[in-house]
Amino acid sequence: MPNLLHIDSSANPKTSASRELTRLFATTWLEAGDDRAVSYRDLHADPVPHISDAGLHYAPRLRVDAENPDPAAEALQAELIAEVATADAVVIGAPMYNWSIPSSLKAWIDHIHVLGTTAPYDTPDQPFAGIPVVVVSSRGLTYGAGSKDEGLDHTIPPLVHVLGTALGMKVDVVTSDLTLVGRIAALDPLTEQSTASASDARNKVIELARQI
Ligand SMILES: Cc1cc2nc3c(=O)[nH]c(=O)nc-3n(C[C@H](O)[C@H](O)[C@H](O)COP(=O)(O)O)c2cc1C
Repeated sequence: MPNLLHIDSSANPKTSASRELTRLFATTWLEAGDDRAVSYRDLHADPVPHISDAGLHYAPRLRVDAENPDPAAEALQAELIAEVATADAVVIGAPMYNWSIPSSLKAWIDHIHVLGTTAPYDTPDQPFAGIPVVVVSSRGLTYGAGSKDEGLDHTIPPLVHVLGTALGMKVDVVTSDLTLVGRIAALDPLTEQSTASASDARNKVIELARQI
């Protein structure tokens, strides 16, 4: 049975733009084929801890003496890795927090990017290679080409690098910009741009969910 791993990390459970978009992706993906299932992980409501030992970044055979992860932490890591490895597609809600990703999402990444296990190191292993992943990033302002904050987006580039380059997944990105319109009066002149960005994001999410 095809399975989608649906991950959210917004700390806003009620009016989150990224949660709305990942939900739209999941429902569209479910409707696009028979006999499909969704596994859900809410990294805000049910946080993964920070990695408790640097050894968790390495396959057991690559650890040095001082690295002795707790077996419970290793078991959680194995569970998180298995969730991705057994998924046919992944969608990740990744809001911009302080020009970067939420720490809850970073803690998850730190568990699943493991040299010698999920990323090549002394062997070419890359068990997630080819799995499609859609990253949905909502941001209060805008960081596109020509914008005054161009270059300050440290949300998408590291996610594309770790998921795409290091883990070999097939990454698509959807952004919803200017979500702080309506909250910050100075952004009022950008209302139309914000509405258009939200609409483009919804359309792109639907298109990707039907394709993947
Ligand atoms: C802790 C925090 C930090 C934020 N930092 C930024 C930021 O650096 N740049 C930005 O454009 N918006 C920032 N925002 C606004 C969010 O990116 C925006 O509200 C976005 O819609 C959040 O995603 P969500 O709607 O899925 O919760 C921040 C919001 C929070 C709560």
